[in-house]
Amino acid sequence: MIRVINVVGARPNFMKVAPLVEAMERRGREFAPLVVHTGQHYDALMSDAFFRDLGLPRPDVHLGVGSGSHAQQTAAVMQQFEPVLLREQPDWVVVVGDVNSTLACALVCAKLRVRVAHVEAGLRSRDRTMPEEINRLLTDQLSDLLLTPSEDADRNLLAEGIPRERIRLVGNVMIDSLFKQLERAGSSNVREDLGVADERYAVVTLHRPSNVDDPVVLGRILSALERIAERVPVIFPAHPRTLKNLSEFGLSERLSRAGRVRLVEPLGYLDFLRLYSGAALVLTDSGGIQEETTALGIPCLTLRENTERPVTVELGTNQLVGTDAFRIIEAATHALDAPRRTGVEPPRVPPLWDGHTADRILDAIKEKDEGGGMRDEG
Ligand code: UD1
Repeated sequence: MIRVINVVGARPNFMKVAPLVEAMERRGREFAPLVVHTGQHYDALMSDAFFRDLGLPRPDVHLGVGSGSHAQQTAAVMQQFEPVLLREQPDWVVVVGDVNSTLACALVCAKLRVRVAHVEAGLRSRDRTMPEEINRLLTDQLSDLLLTPSEDADRNLLAEGIPRERIRLVGNVMIDSLFKQLERAGSSNVREDLGVADERYAVVTLHRPSNVDDPVVLGRILSALERIAERVPVIFPAHPRTLKNLSEFGLSERLSRAGRVRLVEPLGYLDFLRLYSGAALVLTDSGGIQEETTALGIPCLTLRENTERPVTVELGTNQLVGTDAFRIIEAATHALDAPRRTGVEPPRVPPLWDGHTADRILDAIKEKDEGGGMRDEG
């Protein structure tokens, strides 16, 4: 029996861990899972709603860390996680994605010589101004098993000198959640509630510090959204950081006056899935949404200059447009003018984004576990 601590911290972690815990419970003779929530995200809308929607069991341990500067938050997770690790003595810790909780827990494991598997390893934006890029680089250096979503990630890791035997291409576990929940999301009334059930519409999400912490950049993006909203309604479920900044910069008033950009609170997993799966266009700076729109064939404009998920541009529906208002409007106009997909042709989806990644991850952990109890000497 392999005892595994699964770490969740922030919103984009929940849909990656849910299929893993479910598979571990289903394979209960091989795996004994525990869920540790660091508390990096704590609002009902940013955390509890996702446990409910995804059927994630309540966390076995909640570290209650909350917000703070990067150093404060990372250090607080480390301090709170260390005694849990010493007490539980798991065989493996699974960390996912690239948030501060991911790196903090991987670092504690490395020092205590507990083996770590990193899900979504190897993604690189090559932009070290992004806090997530630092988290990715360091987590991958510290992990014993690097579970990658696409071949570009394998190449990145090999180029950084990580031995091939630590790397396993397993596909995208977030897509397991997406395929599993798609039908249930059909019973959400979010399109009706927002008045877009019979309309073409666009969905926007923004939360990257580089886009929402600077009033000039955020104002520029809003100008583009206002122009797009002259053509189709634009629904904007806003992250708490974005809502706070919009109001601090005096921009929420401008939006409500202008009318058609609809600012709403963050949505739960099922409501958000229902909303973007019917959109004519998605505009985002999120990593995960670039992948989810690719899996469903929804046109996506990424309001960044780079992406750690190039496969969504090469194979999928994603286009990098940056934050220049003119470029955004031009790309949106082009996307809205393009003939609609008929639904006959399935979207082009990267290999292994097939809804079965969780089992491949468990197989990889099992195989590595049988290879010996100690951490590799690196
Ligand atoms: C974090 C992740 C980011 C991820 C994002 C998804 C890092 C470095 N960043 O960014 O990679 O894409 O989550 O949302 O780990 N807040 C609340 N309620 C909450 C959580 C946060 O109001 O439940 C507010 C607080 O004011 C906080 C701010 O949001 O200071 C930012 O939260 P934080 O966890 O520091 O980073 P995110 O921007 O959410």
